[in-house]
Amino acid sequence: MDIQKLVSQLTLEEKASLCSGLDFWRTKPIDRLGIPSVMVSDGPHGLRKQNEQSDHLGINDSLKAVCFPTASATAASFDVETVHEIGLAIGDTCQHEQVSVALGPAVNIKRSPLCGRNFEYFSEDPYLTKELSTSYIKALQSKNIGASIKHFALNNQEHRRMTSDSVVDERTMREIYFPAFEDAVKRAKPWTVMSSYNHINGTYACESHELLTEILRDEWGFDGYVMSDWGATSDRVVCLQAGMDLEMPASGGVNDKRIVKAVQDGKLDEKLLDQAVERILKITYRYLDNAKPDTVWDLEAQHALARRIAADCMVLLKNEDAILPLDESDEIAVIGKFAMQPRYQGGGSSHINSFKTTSLMDVLEGHANVSYAQGYDIESEQPDEALIDEAVKLAGSKKTVIIVAGLPDQFESEGYDRAHLGMPACQNELIARVAAANPNTVVVLYNGSPVEMPWLGSVKAVLEAYLGGQAVGGATKDVLFGDVCPSGRLPESFPQKIEDTPCFLTYGGEKDHAVYNEGVFVGYRYYEKKKIAPLFPFGHGLSYTSFDYSNLSLSASSMNDTDSMTVSVDVKNIGQVAGKEVVQLYVSDKQSTVFRPIRELKGFQKILLAPGESKTVTFVLDKSAFAYWNVQLHDWHVETGEFAIQIGKNSHEMLLEDTVQVQSTVEVPEVYTVNTPFGDLMANPRAKVILAQMGSNMMGMLGTIGQEEQQVGDAAESAVSKDMLQAMLQYAPLRSAVSFSGGQMNFEQLDELLKVLNQ
Ligand code: BGC
Repeated sequence: MDIQKLVSQLTLEEKASLCSGLDFWRTKPIDRLGIPSVMVSDGPHGLRKQNEQSDHLGINDSLKAVCFPTASATAASFDVETVHEIGLAIGDTCQHEQVSVALGPAVNIKRSPLCGRNFEYFSEDPYLTKELSTSYIKALQSKNIGASIKHFALNNQEHRRMTSDSVVDERTMREIYFPAFEDAVKRAKPWTVMSSYNHINGTYACESHELLTEILRDEWGFDGYVMSDWGATSDRVVCLQAGMDLEMPASGGVNDKRIVKAVQDGKLDEKLLDQAVERILKITYRYLDNAKPDTVWDLEAQHALARRIAADCMVLLKNEDAILPLDESDEIAVIGKFAMQPRYQGGGSSHINSFKTTSLMDVLEGHANVSYAQGYDIESEQPDEALIDEAVKLAGSKKTVIIVAGLPDQFESEGYDRAHLGMPACQNELIARVAAANPNTVVVLYNGSPVEMPWLGSVKAVLEAYLGGQAVGGATKDVLFGDVCPSGRLPESFPQKIEDTPCFLTYGGEKDHAVYNEGVFVGYRYYEKKKIAPLFPFGHGLSYTSFDYSNLSLSASSMNDTDSMTVSVDVKNIGQVAGKEVVQLYVSDKQSTVFRPIRELKGFQKILLAPGESKTVTFVLDKSAFAYWNVQLHDWHVETGEFAIQIGKNSHEMLLEDTVQVQSTVEVPEVYTVNTPFGDLMANPRAKVILAQMGSNMMGMLGTIGQEEQQVGDAAESAVSKDMLQAMLQYAPLRSAVSFSGGQMNFEQLDELLKVLNQ
């Protein structure tokens, strides 16, 4: 299809009309030229295709589909293969259902555990997020269905999400909030990007030319179309100028007229409109030319896949006395409404109309030695004495208790943030009372984000299942009874309490002003630096087997930042059962002059090992493993120095470490001004030579002050200590050389000197 030719045949009105939806989910057709309408649909963990009544909040029913575990769960797999499998399945589903773009993945960073939508996001860590989202997009698009990576960018809270302003510094954006988008654009080439609702530093994301054109397209090379989040479009013409091509959903023609008028009034260059239409049509035809509506969509097969994946995502947080796995012949009490009616997905636009749901009790049905008590209500937070008594009585009569608990729908959702990290009081009370009646208590949690666990010390085991999709019941049984060895790892830190979290002081913002004061210190980057022990650290997760690590080996002890190096480590299963281990590699900058986290995840791999089996795991590290974002260069930069390469059990417990010396090949130019402190100047060997060569008075002055320092040091009673004098000299600006030189130096000489220094 010659898209340019097609665009040249369109009238101004037709072009404007193509820049907004036909309705909630479809692009506009132009029948005259045979341009068809195509559909886009949510979402990342299953298809939410609405044929009849449409909405973007999950209110009206959509087509029956398969609900896979949500992103917070799949991130816990720490496995790029797992998300790849989901991408393939959703690709087939969309082909079958003739949906051109699946709206996702949602890759916003979990800045606070309070964000209502965290269940839809992957992680607090940009590296983990980018590896997973890029893998998902590649899989989905291999089926010729477009991804829409969202929400670009800095949409990290639900509170006032359509107007809030994320106030963030450049380095933090680049290091924490952009990498998933950048990596996806560079490696997976998403067909579309969805721009977010919020402002960024005062400008709506949809209206930001810097974001949507300079960074996304010019710098990263994005070549698809940008669509607005649903209803995010503010000033349509400004949005178009910024690079936001498609407005969703339909604006009823209101904004199309504005576009036409802006072109007619000479306020909008028609070329920009042509460009937007070209981009939209290019993707439309990419789908149409590769549409395969006869693709098989096997719901049962996907249900089985959802079960396997959910089991691989579960994180065993605690397992005292190796109480898990359970024995099927044991007398077991299963307690909790969620065991009958699991919570397995979140509310809002990602809500799937599951074709079936399996609860834990569904799969345990028929086991004569399993009894059930409800324990709590989902609708009420208040403890129900009758339900608790019944549960306690049952618990006391059985060998082991499984309590299935977690967060009800109203506790976390799209559209608003959580008010606290607590579980409903009725569930906390139930767990405490049951654990007191039977010490062999195992808690299974169905929740999309971290919770406080006031009862942790009195239960034997905790299995974090997150929101495990429609097959979660089967998967829960598979892990509890040892058919699957747990291998999930926390993709986020679980704090002890909300006051410990990095942005506790400012999260949510004042009205629309949300300042990201914590900078790059998000998640474990914060807890490690502050030495605050979380309840469970990022990367934590237990297994039914044990692994031994040895032979950490680096291919080089020194390298340039333009080189890459190989790191290998041997991992052996020294337990009794086969299991998967997540090998985690962290990099720590030992000699940084900028504020950096203690360590950052720069590699991970999930491997399956039979008992006694060993594997060598290999990672390749390049500049990106060592670099930080330099705001002077506006680029990634590596500081020359020593870096530790660490293999960690999680973000806090390091098992093996070695070091590499990395040499920077990029000099960050120093710019000296009259306000540069002496100390900064003297730290530069070149500057010292220049000063000496010029016989500068400044050198003389430094000498004089040195002598004074000597005298001061001798006078014990002096009001001016040696340290004070040294500090004053070191931090005095160069202009002081003129003021304090007693006329020996003037500003002209200083300017001359600066000229030479800055050459
Ligand atoms: C959400 C998007 C979603 C869209 C369409 C919006 O409210 O933020 O993630 O894709 O609705 O349902």
